[in-house]
Amino acid sequence: MSGIKLISTGSALPRQEVTNFDLEKKVDTSDEWIATRTGIRSRHYCSGDESHLGLCMAAARQAIQRAGVSPADIGVCLVATLTQDTMTPSAACVLQKELGLAEDTVCFDLNAACAGFVYGLHTAECLLAASPRRYGLVIGCEVLSRITDFTDRSTCVLFGDGAGAVVVEWGADYPSICAVMGSRGNREVLYIPGVNTGSASYIHMDGKEVFRFAVEVLPRCTHEVAEKAGVPLEAIDRFVFHQANQRILDHAVRKLKLDPARCAGNIARTGNTSAASVPILLDELVTTGQLASGQKALCAGFGGGLTWAGCLLQLA
Ligand code: ACO
Repeated sequence: MSGIKLISTGSALPRQEVTNFDLEKKVDTSDEWIATRTGIRSRHYCSGDESHLGLCMAAARQAIQRAGVSPADIGVCLVATLTQDTMTPSAACVLQKELGLAEDTVCFDLNAACAGFVYGLHTAECLLAASPRRYGLVIGCEVLSRITDFTDRSTCVLFGDGAGAVVVEWGADYPSICAVMGSRGNREVLYIPGVNTGSASYIHMDGKEVFRFAVEVLPRCTHEVAEKAGVPLEAIDRFVFHQANQRILDHAVRKLKLDPARCAGNIARTGNTSAASVPILLDELVTTGQLASGQKALCAGFGGGLTWAGCLLQLA
């Protein structure tokens, strides 16, 4: 048995907070519609000199500093994202220099949409097993305001910007995070056109289909992770689900018969930050003492692709 444990977390949100009331001024919508349909009340957007790289750096530096490790001890640096500043160099590659990571650190970006951060944890666990260094840096970062179509009221009210980062440690005697992952190729339900299509790179989404997909896959993935880890749901301290939509989360919590107190979320304040949502919430739970040393968090994400992923992460 070998695996990774969570050592520390960090997060960064842009300065500008955009409430539903602010959106009411430029979109035909209302605070009441957004809050009752999604649970979202405000989100943050990058402005001025803020960038994807800036958010990554702020979250990563916080996590590294809290871990008390040297950048030279990090063997893997992964950024889960679909909104990096440049297609190449990758955000992870730029971070190698900015954070002072060794040149033989494995650095790359990973796109599994809103499931990306958990895909990243699994990838880090595998790569660290083959690394001479014990520590990995996994970041989820999105600047979704850049790819939001503000003429489409059914999508533009959902998304926000932000970054979350974790430092994990690999140990030969640590339990595996028992990741469960899946992909279901679908080009209609949730997609963003690529650079070669000639159309603007905005998020396109069939909300009802995403809803159906999410309420099918989130409870199933949660059960599969618990079974793989051999840990009953009752013994799991926190459930850290992708903050897509409060109604999806409420549905999953009911179906799984979970105590809502163990499923605290932050979507009301952050909106849906895709790959960043799970690590931002993890940081909030750790820094407020809601996830303590030795406790276990079942993390799960689902999104475009369609993709899904879950794992059981223990705080060292
Ligand atoms: N403000 C006011 N009215 C709106 C808005 C808005 N922002 N958006 C849509 N409406 C209107 C529609 O025009 C429609 O009006 P009509 O009946 O006169 O035609 C009415 O509200 C209902 O529209 P629906 O699209 O049927 O709304 P629905 O109840 O399905 O809610 C929503 C839309 C919230 C997107 C829902 O489908 C949903 O929760 N889907 C899940 C998608 C999701 O959470 N995605 C997250 C991103 S993807 C991810 O992270 C995996």
